[in-house]
Amino acid sequence: MSEAQQTIEIRVLRYRPEQDEEPVWQSYTVPFTDDMSVLQGLQYIKDELDGTLSFRWSCRMAICGSCGMMVNAQPKLSCQTFLRHLLPGPVRIEGLAHFPIERDLVVNVEGFIEKLEGIKPYLIPKEERTLAQGEYLQTPAQLERFEQFSSCINCMLCYAACPQFGLNPDFTGPGVLALLHRYNADSRDGGRAQRQEVMNAEEGVWACTAVGYCSEVCPKHVDPANAVNQNKVNSAKDYFLRFLSPKGMHK
Ligand code: FES
Repeated sequence: MSEAQQTIEIRVLRYRPEQDEEPVWQSYTVPFTDDMSVLQGLQYIKDELDGTLSFRWSCRMAICGSCGMMVNAQPKLSCQTFLRHLLPGPVRIEGLAHFPIERDLVVNVEGFIEKLEGIKPYLIPKEERTLAQGEYLQTPAQLERFEQFSSCINCMLCYAACPQFGLNPDFTGPGVLALLHRYNADSRDGGRAQRQEVMNAEEGVWACTAVGYCSEVCPKHVDPANAVNQNKVNSAKDYFLRFLSPKGMHK
C-alpha cells in the first residue's frame, strides 16, 4: 500500500439491522494502486478504516462466485473489477440487486439455493455401471453440447441483471435454468424427466421475457439466455409430444 499515490471515494450502501432502520450510504476515501480491485478496496476499508463493514469473498480470482455486488449499479464480481477503471469516482457499491439485504453487502441467497437444489444439479446416470465396466465415455461433440453451460460459478450476477427476477422472485431464473440445461444436455445424464416439472412450470423457462442482460453480465460467458432459449425449444417439444405419446414426457 505504501506506493499508493491516488485516492478514490468508495460509497457503500450499508445496512446493520441492529441500528439501521433502512440502508444508508457511507463514504470512505481509499488510497489505491493500479492493480487494486474493488474487492481490495473494500478489504482496505475493513482492515484500515472500518472493521464493521461486511461483504463476502473467498478466492479473489473470479472462481468462487461469492464476491458479486452492484458496482455503479451494474452487477460485477468485485475481485475482477479494477478501481483504475472507475476513475474519477465516486464508486457506488451495493449488495446484489433483487436479493434481500442481510447486512451491508451480504444478501440473502436462500431462495437461489433452493431453486438450485430443485433442479438436481448433478448427473443422474442413464444406466448404472459398475467400476469394472469403466468410465462413462463421451465424444468431443457430446461435450461441446453442454460445456459452456458448465462454467457457471453461481455468482448470481445474472439474477441481479434480470428484470423478470426483480419483478417475480419465484422465477427460477437464468443461472439455475442454464445449469438445468447443462445436465439435460449431457449425454451421460438420464434425469431430464425429473427436471421437466421445474422447466415447464409457470415460473420456469416461459417466465423469461428474453431481455438477455443476464448473458451480458455473466463473468464466465455461460450465456444463460441461450440456455433458456434451448430449454424453451425442449419445453415446446415436450408439449407437442404429449399429444403424440400416451406416456407424455421424454424419458
Ligand atoms: Fe471468488 Fe471474487 S472472490 S469470485
